[in-house]
Amino acid sequence: GRLPVICIDGPTASGKGTVAAAVAQRLGYHYLDSGALYRATALAAVHAGIAIDPREEERLAALARSLLLRFEDGRIWLGAQDVSDAIRTEEVGMAASRVSALPAVRAALLALQHGFRRLPGLVTDGRDMGTVVFPDAQLKVFLTASAAVRAERRHKQLMAKGISTTIADLRAELDARDARDASRSVAPLAPAEDALVLDNSSYTIDEAVDQVVAWWQARQ
Ligand code: C5P
Repeated sequence: GRLPVICIDGPTASGKGTVAAAVAQRLGYHYLDSGALYRATALAAVHAGIAIDPREEERLAALARSLLLRFEDGRIWLGAQDVSDAIRTEEVGMAASRVSALPAVRAALLALQHGFRRLPGLVTDGRDMGTVVFPDAQLKVFLTASAAVRAERRHKQLMAKGISTTIADLRAELDARDARDASRSVAPLAPAEDALVLDNSSYTIDEAVDQVVAWWQARQ
């Protein structure tokens, strides 16, 4: 049969990365953080001095095709540089959102993402994993959370990294990014028709992980 894939899509800071990584760990599956690919592309563009602008679409796509990206023990390397922390700022998140709206860039990253589908299985999170990248996934989850909860979560994450912001600023940034992601013409943020929706507002991480694993086991 087809190689197992669990897709967890949803808006910014809904907790999908944390939940997807924990589900992968529990099942012993591979994990792909697809947002990191867009973030790394955006960071590489800044380093190369290429403006993130539709007029540079072809150069940005070429850059995405030639990314020397490695995922190793939970760290992310771009060439010889550990960019794990550098790609996490909200500034890079917004740049990633702009670069990800370009169809040629999305196409360039498609084969790379398909390559992560390996035995014994894959858990992946993003915006279009269930709709575009792995439309035949055996389980698709759309993880949401209220805007207030998402802003608070992201605030805690950034504080832990020593990055200071206010919750109000963050909420405005997350709203702007989600609006851009949901309104773009290619692969907009939206639940797949066959996705199970999980509202993560009042769940702990463990509860959300339990729910996804239970859905997966029910399908075996
Ligand atoms: O999930 P994360 O916040 O790291 O993603 C950064 C940006 O990358 C998102 O705002 C979105 O624009 C883009 N993205 C995407 N498709 C994905 C994952 C991320 O367009 N599958």
